[in-house]
Amino acid sequence: MIVEMNKIDAPKAHELLISAISPLPVTLISTVSGEGVYNAAPFSAVAPVSWKPPLFFVSIGSKNGIKKDTARNIESTGDFVVNIMSEDFIKATVQSSANYPSDVNEIESVGLTSLPAKKVKSPLIKEAQINIECQLYKKIELGEGEDIRWVYFGEIILMHMKDEILTSGEIDPLKLGAVGYLGNRPLGKRLFCRTKDILKL
Ligand SMILES: Cc1cc2nc3c(=O)[nH]c(=O)nc-3n(C[C@H](O)[C@H](O)[C@H](O)COP(=O)(O)O)c2cc1C
Repeated sequence: MIVEMNKIDAPKAHELLISAISPLPVTLISTVSGEGVYNAAPFSAVAPVSWKPPLFFVSIGSKNGIKKDTARNIESTGDFVVNIMSEDFIKATVQSSANYPSDVNEIESVGLTSLPAKKVKSPLIKEAQINIECQLYKKIELGEGEDIRWVYFGEIILMHMKDEILTSGEIDPLKLGAVGYLGNRPLGKRLFCRTKDILKL
């Protein structure tokens, strides 16, 4: 099968690409609004993209053309925190993608705990294996109308890692227990994978 990408709509392109480039990481991004309300939501269109400066990007779509709370908060405070959750917290992570009103603390609502960060206004998620404090570096706007989205590059200022995930001072993937996102096929079922089946080359 061959697909001409400019002949399919955005939801189809989205499903195709997140199933093809697979697994994608699952990050839980925590932010705070201008009014001080804590927020968290899962994002998979993410990657570390530069080492000097250390940069991470997240691509955030709109809900019917309206900016998501995470995007609004990043623009308001100029920072965000990327949290890497283990399999134990994947349900709470996915639950935080539900449609909560902007004035609801989504971190508490899904049973997670916030902690103050050291260098940014956005909170850390206590249960995370890793918290990455980022300061907004650059924003790019892509698409238009209902398909508009924004890519936020954050400069990584601080990384917090739980001692339990380290072996000889390095992150041990078996102890990290991260989860990958495999897309939504069959439709309506979100698929995830464990990252503990390791291939050594
Ligand atoms: C596993 C997973 C990955 C997701 N990745 C993204 C993403 O990369 N970009 C995006 O805009 N939305 C993504 N979403 C949807 C957002 O989490 C969802 O729209 C959420 O309600 C946004 O919350 P907010 O309005 O509090 O920012 C993802 C959802 C799930 C479950």
